[in-house]
Amino acid sequence: MLITIANKPGIDEAIAHIRRDGIAAVPTETVYGLAANAKSDIAVAKIFAAKRRPNFNPLILHTSGLDAAREIVEFNPAALQLAQKFWPGPLTMVLPLKENSGISQLAVAGLENAAIRVPNHPVMMELLRGFGGPLAAPSANLSGQISPTRAEHVLEGMNYRAEMILDGGPCLVGIESTILDLSGPAPTLLRPGGIEAESVEKEIGAIRRITASGDKILAPGMMEKHYAPKTPLRIGCGNPQAKEALLAFGPDVPPGFPRVLNLSVSENLTEAAANLFAYMQNLDQEGHSGIATMPIPEKGLGVAINDRLRRASCGRETS
Ligand code: TXA
Ligand code: MG
Repeated sequence: MLITIANKPGIDEAIAHIRRDGIAAVPTETVYGLAANAKSDIAVAKIFAAKRRPNFNPLILHTSGLDAAREIVEFNPAALQLAQKFWPGPLTMVLPLKENSGISQLAVAGLENAAIRVPNHPVMMELLRGFGGPLAAPSANLSGQISPTRAEHVLEGMNYRAEMILDGGPCLVGIESTILDLSGPAPTLLRPGGIEAESVEKEIGAIRRITASGDKILAPGMMEKHYAPKTPLRIGCGNPQAKEALLAFGPDVPPGFPRVLNLSVSENLTEAAANLFAYMQNLDQEGHSGIATMPIPEKGLGVAINDRLRRASCGRETS
């Protein structure tokens, strides 16, 4: 069976598989990742092939702690402060790669900077400790598709291309990590995610935000269309269309939709983030003519949720 329960024998099997340059889908607190030895070109190449990911798009490196991360990238004072505050957790920092890091050039797409984080998930942590080195892990979906927050969604989304899937249950955060570029003079938010930008600013002061359509794309993976379900999704929920489903938020759900999934009836953004990808995936699989979405406040985790919905909508905005 491709899906293996993430108990001790399952985790040991995944470690052995990764040691043999295999790839394994593994749970993190944000989304499932497709993990491989970050120091092996062969293993990393398998990730790119399985995801059909362009080679110029680098992977996030995961370590078991700050000390292990410091062997790979150069930390500055702001990065150290953020690591101490938010690691383990959904904050990825882009920092200069050390010359003797041993990281596969393919993993970092030949760049001088690498994206790195310490994940907050007991299974991923045991894997990292047991393996004893950094793991490269992008989200475990085909390039451009929705990130999986359940083991079954990895299986469905990757069409059996993940060699092994460790099932550690649903991901609690449900949305990818916040990516912050700290390699230059001005800290820059490359991707809103599981840690609110405001919380980062409380630690290190104002950070620069780039907009998807404005500045040049700094995170190579932040293309406009991303996180897309196959069913057309629109921002807005006026004039329900025939056989259109609604991704709702809050108690005031408009009438007229034959199918409704509510991200959070109580308007809780943490709950909404945790449900987002699983609900998008569910509605996508049910075969509706389209997916309409209710407005979500642009604050806190709502910023990351709206970012993913906008990308999934490919510019379809209605009232
Ligand atoms: O929560 C997460 O971050 C999940 C879990 C598995 O850790 N990972 C994840 O990886 O979302 P991925 O590959 O789907 O997205 C990583 C993003 C990509 O947009 C990539 O372009 C960007 O990080 N990235 C990676 N290395 C970078 C670098 N050196 N400079 C700028 N952006 C980088
Ligand atoms: Mg991804």
